[in-house]
Amino acid sequence: PVNIYAELRKNSMGVNFSNDNELKAMADAVNAHAGPWAAAPLVPGTTANGATIQVTNPADRRQNVGSYVSADSATVDKALANAVAAQHSWDRLPAASRAAILEHAAEQLEANRGEFIALCVREAGKSLPDAIAEIREAADFLRYYATMARRLFGQPEQLPGPTGESNQLFLNGRGVFVCISPWNFPLAIFLGQVSAALAAGNAVIAKPAEQTSLIGYAAVKLLHDAGVPADVLQYLPGDGATVGAALTRDPRVAGVAFTGSTETAWAINRALAARNASIAALIAETGGQNAMIADSSALPEQIVKDVIASAFQSAGQRCSAARVLFVQEDIADKVCAMLAGAMGELKVGDPGQLSTDVGPVIDEDAKKILVEHAARMDKEAKKIGEVKLDPALTANGTFFAPRAYEIPSLATLTREVFGPVLHVIRWKGSELKQVVDQINATGYGLTLGIHSRINDTVDYIASHARVGNCYVNRNQIGAVVGVQPFGGENLSGTGPKAGGPHYLLRFAGERTLTINT
Ligand code: SER
Repeated sequence: PVNIYAELRKNSMGVNFSNDNELKAMADAVNAHAGPWAAAPLVPGTTANGATIQVTNPADRRQNVGSYVSADSATVDKALANAVAAQHSWDRLPAASRAAILEHAAEQLEANRGEFIALCVREAGKSLPDAIAEIREAADFLRYYATMARRLFGQPEQLPGPTGESNQLFLNGRGVFVCISPWNFPLAIFLGQVSAALAAGNAVIAKPAEQTSLIGYAAVKLLHDAGVPADVLQYLPGDGATVGAALTRDPRVAGVAFTGSTETAWAINRALAARNASIAALIAETGGQNAMIADSSALPEQIVKDVIASAFQSAGQRCSAARVLFVQEDIADKVCAMLAGAMGELKVGDPGQLSTDVGPVIDEDAKKILVEHAARMDKEAKKIGEVKLDPALTANGTFFAPRAYEIPSLATLTREVFGPVLHVIRWKGSELKQVVDQINATGYGLTLGIHSRINDTVDYIASHARVGNCYVNRNQIGAVVGVQPFGGENLSGTGPKAGGPHYLLRFAGERTLTINT
């Protein structure tokens, strides 16, 4: 079928890495923005009086990036009251006006991308290419949901009136939406959730991840400057146990968009259900135990290139990242040897340098889980490769060397390991069904990679694997807005897919108006 949306909108352009002038301009912009940044709740009618939290750079904890003031319970309560009062007028605004504000924000984001890139590098430890991609994806979300808002919310649908009555179906905002976003895409997922909720006519309370509160603040300021009223979009930084929990148990909330762990999604679902209030919408994007399946018809060079990107880019801190490579035994020795060689070429280091492939992991807690997992794998599994790590980096930054291990089966992995650790499992050509069954049995269903030149094999896997995003003969990360709608099923999320044509509908209510003419 023809993509009816394609010509309405263009995806954001990045930086041309082969153009020295563009690269230098990027590096200069990052250097020009060194902070320190300061943030506080953006809630009209309150003054910031919660605890002040210091923010340091994951690549070097001696570097002060800034500080933010946490929201206290009175601020949370006032934000909810403001949002309820602001909801109706925002919802009544023509969808085209809301869309124009989001598009204006996308332009401003691109025009001022130097500061946003600097924030992504310094607060989230993103590598420069990842930070640039993050700005592009964020701009894409703003424009895509603007386009979809015009299309879906612009005019009511005229329905048949067999008895002479006029029937119209309207889409409208559901009410106050809470957006709880993750630190791994602190701008793109943050602005994706918020812009979708706004586009659909909802007042929004945005709670950033604690680790990336400064980026969340800059993103909310961007939308305010573009024209979103201060009471329609409010910013509430703070920890999940206090701010997140206070929001999700409040009966004034009509919906929650959440990206993070499956365990937190369950907790939010329980809190919403326990309120005995309106039955709230929950849009959750959660974890994965993502596999790549390679058979002996695939090109080892291509498998290795794509598994390196899928497992180690962004320090493996993507929910789409490959955690397990199933490689057919006929080519397994060759692939493992090439994988070890390719890992030897990776450079872990300062995310602000273009020569760096892998930056730090987000914080000490994340690193501790990875170190513990690696210690268990060192005992129970066979190590295939480990990237060299300069000890000077670990003195002050939360760096972790990417590793690959061979394990006997998926049963060895009890949970998602969120970082640059790849596991390799050999399979025999007669075991394709068992491989797919093992992957389905994890209960997760986010991304899956396939490397094969046999159409029947590709068809079998793609039609039996219960996953949201399946990628054939390429890497399995970096879904593009409007091109690869993204999101999982089962333990990996509720849908609908972010950056896809149905996403806004979950943020909307429907009303039928029947007039006896
Ligand atoms: N959307 C991201 C990707 O596709 C993951 O969160 O890599």
